[in-house]
Amino acid sequence: MAAEACIALVERDEGGVDRAFRADVLEGLLQQQKAVPARWFYDARGSELFEKITRLPEYYPTQAETEILQARSREFAELIGTGRAVVEFGSGSSVKTPLLLRAIDPAAYVPLDISGDFLRAAAADLAREFPDMPVVPVEADFMKPVILPAVVADLLKLGFFPGSTIGNMVARTSVDLLRSMRATLGGDAMLLIGMDLIKDVSVLEAAYDDAAGVTAAFNRNLAHRINRELDGTIPVDALRHVALWNDEYARIEMHLEAVRDIVFQVSGRSFAMRKGETIHTENSHKFDRRSQMTLLLAGGWTPIGRWTDSEKRFSLLLAEATRPRNAP
Ligand code: AVJ
Repeated sequence: MAAEACIALVERDEGGVDRAFRADVLEGLLQQQKAVPARWFYDARGSELFEKITRLPEYYPTQAETEILQARSREFAELIGTGRAVVEFGSGSSVKTPLLLRAIDPAAYVPLDISGDFLRAAAADLAREFPDMPVVPVEADFMKPVILPAVVADLLKLGFFPGSTIGNMVARTSVDLLRSMRATLGGDAMLLIGMDLIKDVSVLEAAYDDAAGVTAAFNRNLAHRINRELDGTIPVDALRHVALWNDEYARIEMHLEAVRDIVFQVSGRSFAMRKGETIHTENSHKFDRRSQMTLLLAGGWTPIGRWTDSEKRFSLLLAEATRPRNAP
């Protein structure tokens, strides 16, 4: 089955701009610590830059997770079984997906992503590679509850959330998301989720500040996107890419730091930044075995399998929807 039909759940204004993007940017720039949610990195250009990041020598998460998906497929396939509908949250270019699909022989594939053009192209490629499996892309912000297409209504679901994207959220939001995934995926669902591990600060910071400057370009593209889509006048040259480990919160933070005092407009409103002031653009939380356990259990998922790569840089966990029961 082909993947021409893409269900779009994004609200756009007369100019074709995502309304939530404008609202998030204007609200975020009014805060004491300026901040824009990381999902707005992923316009077509940002998604392209992220693909480049995944191929960088410093960016170990993709290499490590791919190793796990290849080397341990028999073990997770055995636990998952065949015939499920795979629902991927934030599928992007779906590069790792074929590894999973080949291992578990699912009945359908539903990629969800906020970057529509990217999603449609990736879904069409996958539909060609797996001609017997329905591929039904849904353009959506997976942070909101999603109604899945009717073709998968009666199938058991496997949520697939690779890349440690869960690490982009603060604890409260990630628990909300895990709980909403449980609701979206229904009874007896399973979840296969990638979670990055705490490691040497030098390795972490290099992964988010690569020598070729691709991550810097990815970070700055957010300012370019604001200029392009929201009539912005941000002097992007005056913003420096910063990636720093925050040990208290166990996360890499990315910021755009003003290298001089600047003033600019966005959607007809004026903003100013003093030299040294930053816009916080991303958190990328890292985990250990116990913090993973706590997070998944808090979100309504019981871990039943856990695998790491040979260098113990990254982990993949399989969990099942926790059944409500009495417990002490
Ligand atoms: C796609 C959210 C998993 O946090 O590592 C990569 C995004 N940002 N380099 C990550 C990202 C900078 C990535 N995730």
